[in-house]
Amino acid sequence: TSNLKTKKIGQQAYYFDSIDSTQNQALKMAEDPANEGAVIIAARQTGGRGRSGRKWVSPKGGIWISIILQPEFDISITTLFPIASALALSLAIEKTFLIKPELKWPNDLTIKGKKLAGMLVDVSLESNKIENLVLGVGINFDVNVKQIEKSLKGTPNFYGVASLSEQNQKVKPIQLVQTFLLELEKIYKSLSAKQTKKIISEWTQRSSTIGKNVELNTVDGKIKGKAVKVDEDGALIVSDNNKTHKIIAGDIVHLSK
Ligand code: BTN
Repeated sequence: TSNLKTKKIGQQAYYFDSIDSTQNQALKMAEDPANEGAVIIAARQTGGRGRSGRKWVSPKGGIWISIILQPEFDISITTLFPIASALALSLAIEKTFLIKPELKWPNDLTIKGKKLAGMLVDVSLESNKIENLVLGVGINFDVNVKQIEKSLKGTPNFYGVASLSEQNQKVKPIQLVQTFLLELEKIYKSLSAKQTKKIISEWTQRSSTIGKNVELNTVDGKIKGKAVKVDEDGALIVSDNNKTHKIIAGDIVHLSK
């Protein structure tokens, strides 16, 4: 890993040929403070986890990683963290593949509307402070899109799969991972310095969500309206004719002009 230019993130790396979930492994390891910054990587996962309890199909060829962090930022920033991480991955893909993925709220990366990557964040709190945080990142690097689509058919909020291999470019997975970890470390520092405006504006520039008519599934039911902006805390602001909704968690099930 001599090309890794980070100070902390990824200085320890643990590789598995096959594991149930790097996220579960990282959560166990996070209990030891010495593992701060460690990255868990697997060639394949047998029980990959997605957001909202969904499964994450993780065959060989993808990049499946979890990163252990002990954030110094305030708990109010935690909800912005996944959005910031999606931005970091997008910047890394721009630098290595020279393409610009779209960012879909809250933390998906898409290409032509199909899912390229997703983020999962698990936080453990101790008396209202963040004790540790595990960021899980799944990137469809060189996967069989058709096969994954087949095994996900009928699952909720499934909207098509993209793979970076469709770009026909000679980028090695390690290059992308190293670039991502560096971008992540930079963004992590910005968050700790409360530079949330810059992050939100860069995210918004790349977003496929803001300015569109959206339909979301939330804990309070379906919400339909225009996606206006992302708030300081990462929440999506949606307005319909008579009301403004602040959505902290949810899934966009429909997106249109
Ligand atoms: C989502 O979009 O639903 C989030 C997907 C997160 C998948 C990654 S792959 C590495 C890590 N280990 C897991 O079990 N999940 C995350």
